[in-house]
Amino acid sequence: MSRRTNPRISLTNLTKNYGKSRGIRDVSFEVFPGEVFGFLGPNGAGKTTTIRTLMGLIKATSGSASILGMNALESSPELRKRIGYLPGVFATYSNYTALQFLRFVARMRNVECDDLIFNYAERLRLDLHRHIHDLSKGNRQKVGVIYAFMHKPDVLFLDEPTSGLDPLVQREFERILNEAQARGASIILSSHVLSEVENLADRIAIINEGEIVVVEHISTLKEQAVRRIDLYFESAINANSFAGVAGLTEIVVDGEVAQCTVTGSERELLRAAVNHGVMTVHTHEPSLDEIFLTLVKSSHPQ
Ligand SMILES: Nc1ncnc2c1ncn2[C@@H]1O[C@H](COP(=O)(O)OP(=O)(O)OP(=O)(O)O)[C@@H](O)[C@H]1O
Ligand SMILES: [Mg+2]
Repeated sequence: MSRRTNPRISLTNLTKNYGKSRGIRDVSFEVFPGEVFGFLGPNGAGKTTTIRTLMGLIKATSGSASILGMNALESSPELRKRIGYLPGVFATYSNYTALQFLRFVARMRNVECDDLIFNYAERLRLDLHRHIHDLSKGNRQKVGVIYAFMHKPDVLFLDEPTSGLDPLVQREFERILNEAQARGASIILSSHVLSEVENLADRIAIINEGEIVVVEHISTLKEQAVRRIDLYFESAINANSFAGVAGLTEIVVDGEVAQCTVTGSERELLRAAVNHGVMTVHTHEPSLDEIFLTLVKSSHPQ
C-alpha cells in the first residue's frame, strides 16, 4: 500500500439523515490503493448506510465522496463497472441458476468473466447449476462473493461478507480478497467484530451511533490499549517502588508478585522492574474485541 498515491475512496463529512431515525453524521475517511480498510460498529451503527450512501444508492443529505477520482454520489455506469459490492443481505433474481444470474450481471457490466466465475465457484465449493432460490444462506452468500469479485473491480465494498460462510470457505474467501488486494484493489470490509478483520485489514474505522469514533492502524490501537502485566520477583516487593512510573495506571502487589495495568508503552515499567530484580514478566495482550468495546463504550458513555 502506498500513501504517496491519491486515495481511491474519499469521504468528507458524509451525512445521511433518514428523518426520524438517525443515519450517519459527518463521516470522513480515506482508503488507498491496495488497502483493506476495516469498517466496524455494532448493529445499527451506520455501516450499511455509509456504504450505500457512498455508492450513490442512497441520496446523501450533505457532504461529499469520491471514488477513483469521480464524484461517487452521482454513481455513473462507468464508475459502477469498476466497483464490486457485496450487500449485507444478498437478495436477487431467484428464478435464475447461480450461473445464469452471474452471466446476466456480467452482460450488464459488459464484461466477460466466465473464467473467474468457474474458478471462484470451484474454490468456494458452489454448484453453479442450482437455482438461487434453492440455495442455503451460506451458498447464496458465495454467489454474492463471486458477484462482487468476478469483474476484477478496483474498489470493493464488502458488507459483512463472511456471514454464513463455514470456516473452510471463509479461508478461501480471504485468499480471494488477498488476491484482489495484491493487484491493487481498495477494499472496505465491514464487520461487527474487530477480531474478524484483524488479519485482513491494516487500518480500521469504528462507527457508533452514526458517527466515526476512531480511524487508526490496528497495530497502533493495540499499542495504545490498556494491558495487564504480571511481574514475578525473587522476594517480596513494595508497590511504592513503582510510584510515578510512566504508563502505570494500577498496581496490586501480593508478596513477590505485582499485577500491573499499563496504558501505552510498558517500557518504563519494565525498566523499573529490572532495577528491582524482576525474574519473570508475563504480558497479557489485550483482546481486540476488548479494545473495540472500550472505544465504543467511551464514545457514548452510560
Ligand atoms: N431505510 C431506512 N430508513 C430509516 N432509517 C434507516 C434506514 N436504514 C437504516 N436506518 C437507520 O440508520 C441507522 C444505521 O443503520 P445501518 O443499517 O446503516 O447500520 P449497520 O451498522 O449496517 O447495522 P448492522 O450491523 O445491523 O447491519 C439505524 O439507526 C437504522 O435504524
Ligand atoms: Mg448493516
